[in-house]
Amino acid sequence: MILSIYLYGQPVLRKQTEELTPSPELTTFIADMYETLTQAEGCGLAAPQVGKPWRLFIVDGTELAEDYPECEGFKKTFINPEIIEKCGEQEEIEGCLSVPNEYGYTKRPERVVCRALDRNGNTFEIEGTGLLARCLCHETDHLDGVMFTD
Ligand code: NI
Repeated sequence: MILSIYLYGQPVLRKQTEELTPSPELTTFIADMYETLTQAEGCGLAAPQVGKPWRLFIVDGTELAEDYPECEGFKKTFINPEIIEKCGEQEEIEGCLSVPNEYGYTKRPERVVCRALDRNGNTFEIEGTGLLARCLCHETDHLDGVMFTD
């Protein structure tokens, strides 16, 4: 099911979000998030962007692998994520499905490590560089009510 994407100005995008326990109901919601993200042709989507104040986001970089090799095969669900390491710096153009047609340069770490639970409740850690690092930071920010325009 395609979900509605909440746009800049809606209160849910500014909320501090709640931690989650993976469950079968959540699996359905996550599948809907992937469907929504694919239709919107984005590379990341956080739960507050579809109206839920939960600590959950998804990243699907597979379509971008041609331009960004770091995205090759990268399609993941992050529940209760935290950025546990960051280093370096990059400043690149960013956009957001909740802020259509607006893009701006944002400073981000060049490399991050993110720890999260997968949909089965197993902890994993993943490293991201380049676009992936930006995406992991951007989506984690959404869970703290932070928008790239800030
Ligand atoms: Ni965004």
